[in-house]
Amino acid sequence: MFHLSPSMLAADFTKLGEQIKKIENAGGDWLHVDVMDGLFVPSISFGMPVIESIRPATDLFFDVHLMVQEPVRYIEEFKRVGADLITIHAEACEDIEATIVKIREAGCKVGISISPDTEVSVLEPWVKKVDMILLMSVHPGFGGQKFIPETMEKIRAVRRMINEQNPACDLEVDGGIHLGNVKEVMEAGVNVVVAGTAVFRGNIKENMDAFYRKMREVYHE
Ligand code: DX5
Ligand code: ZN
Repeated sequence: MFHLSPSMLAADFTKLGEQIKKIENAGGDWLHVDVMDGLFVPSISFGMPVIESIRPATDLFFDVHLMVQEPVRYIEEFKRVGADLITIHAEACEDIEATIVKIREAGCKVGISISPDTEVSVLEPWVKKVDMILLMSVHPGFGGQKFIPETMEKIRAVRRMINEQNPACDLEVDGGIHLGNVKEVMEAGVNVVVAGTAVFRGNIKENMDAFYRKMREVYHE
């Protein structure tokens, strides 16, 4: 199964509801929700009230990416406002195990992410315990950055780990993905693709149609 997860960070917030409908109408099933705390990353995005207000407006699967220091403090709140999957950063947690347990107890799916400077070996203890691994292909903090080419090797390495240890685990890539590189990252082993700028800039429906066309060339289902 593959998914395109449009990153809401790139949306036009004056028409957020409308843009979410466009994602649904284009056949979208996931929405990537980037929460930044100004501490783990230099920027601040949005938090619970925004997620809470869009939750009743859509059935999209909320793929919540917490770029937050010690996210364990906020798990119940993110569940309450409507997160389906909560991804934490390995670098941001003092106790990764306890954070994963907390997400499970809240009833959400669990994702773990690493930033570009973090080795994939950090993920080794967690592969069997999570539903998704998110590889950052830009330094987290801002949309619209350029894909870091070294990510390709990391994708292949993590795909091997997943296939050996937990084949049901999803592998998501986030940052700088566009129509020109989506096939390449999927061929390397990604099955969930985040795209912000490349989906929201211009015509959402046309952009998503083009993404799905490319993605189906790799995954035939
Ligand atoms: C970056 C965020 C990404 C970002 C992706 O910190 O985690 O999800 O919004 O945006 P693009 O696709 O524009 O690189
Ligand atoms: Zn993200």
